[in-house]
Amino acid sequence: MPLIAQNIQIRPLSKNDEPFLREMLYHAIFVPEGAQPPPRDVIRNPELSRYVNDWGQPGDDGYVAVIRDKPVGAVWIRLLTGNDKGYGYVDDETPELSIAILPEYRGQGIGNALITYLFTEIYERHPAVCLSVSEENPACRLYRRLGFEEIQNDGTSVKMIRKLI
Ligand SMILES: CC(C)(COP(=O)(O)OP(=O)(O)OC[C@H]1O[C@@H](n2cnc3c(N)ncnc32)[C@H](O)[C@@H]1OP(=O)(O)O)[C@@H](O)C(=O)NCCC(=O)NCCS
Repeated sequence: MPLIAQNIQIRPLSKNDEPFLREMLYHAIFVPEGAQPPPRDVIRNPELSRYVNDWGQPGDDGYVAVIRDKPVGAVWIRLLTGNDKGYGYVDDETPELSIAILPEYRGQGIGNALITYLFTEIYERHPAVCLSVSEENPACRLYRRLGFEEIQNDGTSVKMIRKLI
């Protein structure tokens, strides 16, 4: 496992990580400042659960940041097509990226390290990745710094693509 900073390591996501991935899916939901977080079971909504259901399908890929054996965040990609198109859908070849870091570990460079690591692992298999993010989400700044470009903006959410070749 590569060491990205003192005590922080990155390892691939496995099928056994699905429960952790569900937790990360919940933490990936943008909650504007002052707003109430949604109930935990919101991730049972099929529009969200399709990002993690039956994790480990062909094409699924992702990485976990671990501090002293504790998983603290994850980045993952999945191709969501047909009737299952994700919020960031661009085309049938571009997987969608999702990411979350546990709240108490945010703002320390872990998200940046996870995405950068993912890119080095997947660039030979995928020409690009896409995502959808709320325009108000501070994560937009991180994505832009990492080379994501805006391709659609409906005034609430922004669709972005990051070319990998
Ligand atoms: C977005 C997120 C994955 C970034 O990981 P991180 O380890 O906190 O980020 P890093 O420390 O590597 O980089 C800092 C950047 O992350 C973003 N960021 C930091 N704290 C954040 C927070 N609480 N919420 C959202 N984005 C945040 C900002 O863009 C920040 O850049 P800035 O300093 O210019 O404002 C993480 O903050 C998070 O899980 N946020 C909540 C879930 C979320 O918004 N997921 C993305 C959905 S599209």
